Amino acid sequence: MAKVLTRKAVERPAWLLWVHGLGVAPAVLFWIGVLRGMYWINPLQTAIQRSGDAAILLLLASLTCTPLAWVRGLAWVVRWRRPLGLYAFAYALVHVALYVGVDYELNWAWLGAEFREKPYLWFGAGAFLILSGLAVTSLQGIQRRLGRRWKALHRLVYVAALLVLVHLALVVKGDALRLRGEVWKPLLAGMGVGVLLGVRLLRRVRRGLSKHL
Ligand code: HEM
Repeated sequence: MAKVLTRKAVERPAWLLWVHGLGVAPAVLFWIGVLRGMYWINPLQTAIQRSGDAAILLLLASLTCTPLAWVRGLAWVVRWRRPLGLYAFAYALVHVALYVGVDYELNWAWLGAEFREKPYLWFGAGAFLILSGLAVTSLQGIQRRLGRRWKALHRLVYVAALLVLVHLALVVKGDALRLRGEVWKPLLAGMGVGVLLGVRLLRRVRRGLSKHL
């Protein structure tokens, strides 16, 4: 018992350090850019864009944990899934708060007009609603109360990832200035989501087949 506790005590701070390091890295990089005067032209728009980028990156990182944990010897990676997912939600919250609260100063009439004009906002809002629900239900008390339904509910994370993909693709497509330079973003993110979904589906199919053999 003492051995197990000692190992846990040594392991826990080490993995927590890595996972929190990964989680705060986008914010640290952003502030380094601010201090070096890289974003002086439009700091608010840059902050909205970088927080969005951080949210999707960490969402993909969190989704990668489950298939990685299937690899022999990597089962421990699954512990990273929840904190990385919560970091993704935190950046999405900053992204939405900067846009709605700072850029549009909570002016619902302006925001309504924006939503009517830019369909990509609906996809972002859908993803944000799902991520908010998943963040709330990942609290341990609620998780326990939901029991088996929790797992089914948390599969919605893939729907959120697909909605974010459309959101990102339409943002880039709608911006002629960025079209040439940044088309790689939705392509890369799309490939990431595609691989992650594909790997999961393949495992399901293989498991289904082995049951019938
Ligand atoms: C109510 C919800 C949301 C709103 C209103 C919203 C709003 C926006 C806006 C206005 C932009 C364009 C920024 C610009 O180029 O000026 C944007 C871009 C983006 N958003 Fe969202 N968003 C929402 C949800 C989300 C969520 C949940 C994610 C990710 C998990 C996300 C990820 C992104 C990404 C990756 C970009 C592109 C950033 C870039 O150009 O590099 N958004 N969003």
